[in-house]
Amino acid sequence: MTEDYSPLPVDTIIQGNCLEILPTLPPESVDLIFADPPYNLQLQADLWRPNLTLVDGVDEDWDKFDTLAAYDEFTRAWLTACRRVLKPSGTLWVIGSYHNIYRVGKIIQDLNYWILNDVVWVKANPMPNFRGMRYTNAHETLLWVQKEKDAKYTFNYHAMKGLNEGLQMRSDWFIPICTGVERLKENGKKVHPTQKPEALLYRIILASSNVGDVVLDPFFGTGTTGAVARKLHRHFVGIEIDPNYIRAANKRVNGILQLEFDPPVFVTPDPKNLARVPFGALVEQGFIEPGVVLYFGTDGGAQAVVLADGNILCDGQRGSIHEIARKLRNGPSNGWTLWHYWDAQTKAHVPIDKLREAYRQQSQIRIEPAEMPDEADDTQNLFNEQRKND
Ligand SMILES: C[S@@+](CC[C@H](N)C(=O)[O-])C[C@H]1O[C@@H](n2cnc3c(N)ncnc32)[C@H](O)[C@@H]1O
Repeated sequence: MTEDYSPLPVDTIIQGNCLEILPTLPPESVDLIFADPPYNLQLQADLWRPNLTLVDGVDEDWDKFDTLAAYDEFTRAWLTACRRVLKPSGTLWVIGSYHNIYRVGKIIQDLNYWILNDVVWVKANPMPNFRGMRYTNAHETLLWVQKEKDAKYTFNYHAMKGLNEGLQMRSDWFIPICTGVERLKENGKKVHPTQKPEALLYRIILASSNVGDVVLDPFFGTGTTGAVARKLHRHFVGIEIDPNYIRAANKRVNGILQLEFDPPVFVTPDPKNLARVPFGALVEQGFIEPGVVLYFGTDGGAQAVVLADGNILCDGQRGSIHEIARKLRNGPSNGWTLWHYWDAQTKAHVPIDKLREAYRQQSQIRIEPAEMPDEADDTQNLFNEQRKND
């Protein structure tokens, strides 16, 4: 017998205990989960700064558990409930500190989630260690896991590279804690003791979901996940037990200005989804003429001549731009970026990839990823290309 579920209430905050709410949501209905659960900080006593002001620590009841076993039981329960609502292609992020993350990690593995990364959030402006008895605790850890090992999941690699000025994004993230205007306050007091910075959620949501996806946050707090999801044209579902936090979160999320959806602004193109363009097509269509000289690299290395059939001739050897490049480098080679032509307008050697870009722009061809060539810019794909050419 199949159970009936109401449709997923997207873009809303549900008040209640996530252990009770999650089982009411339809199975396999969300694309991404971000969870910032209670850390079970076990703070023993008030903490005072050297200037005798009280540190505003986390001493809320929702962060307290009688024993570590009770915390483990709670963790196992919400992670199990999350697994049910996550699509098979879905991923889940959990953030924690040394107080809880090792316990969370073990339970995650026990429940057959598959760990994709652990990311260290290095706090640019951590709270000092006021007693001077230990190192300043300047980071938190995030686990990024997928529901099913080997399932296809979303990772917007090129969007991450874009955020990082063209370099691969690493697993150590340097982001300030939430302060200033972003920090919600009422009557001068913080609304919530552990409001997370939007920059952290921005990176997570941009990387591991797509426009229109549903992001679930079972410990919604002030709604940082919802605010960023809205900005990035994703949907959210929030669950939060405390009505005061819900009030603040609703106000915050509803106040987010959502810019009109414009695909180039919000979607990073993935080269893997671009149509395959054989070099011969550029010759055929006059983007480059037979007889033109190509230069290997920009520093006066080997030269080749473009042939009428789309091959090139270099030192008596005839072959594709990739085959000749591979022979010259004696290793995996992407001919598109290695061969250059002389551009009379800019008076510079320009990679022939520029011509391919122009060709694509003019013809606007797209094909299904399954038919794509292996010519993206990472080594694995180059390696695949070599094997395919062989
Ligand atoms: C660490 S805070 C999350 C803060 C949030 N990420 C933000 O940026 O504001 C954890 C939140 O979970 C809520 N909470 C604790 N236990 C809960 C439960 N069983 N179900 C739903 N919410 C719960 C707390 O009230 C608290 O707001």
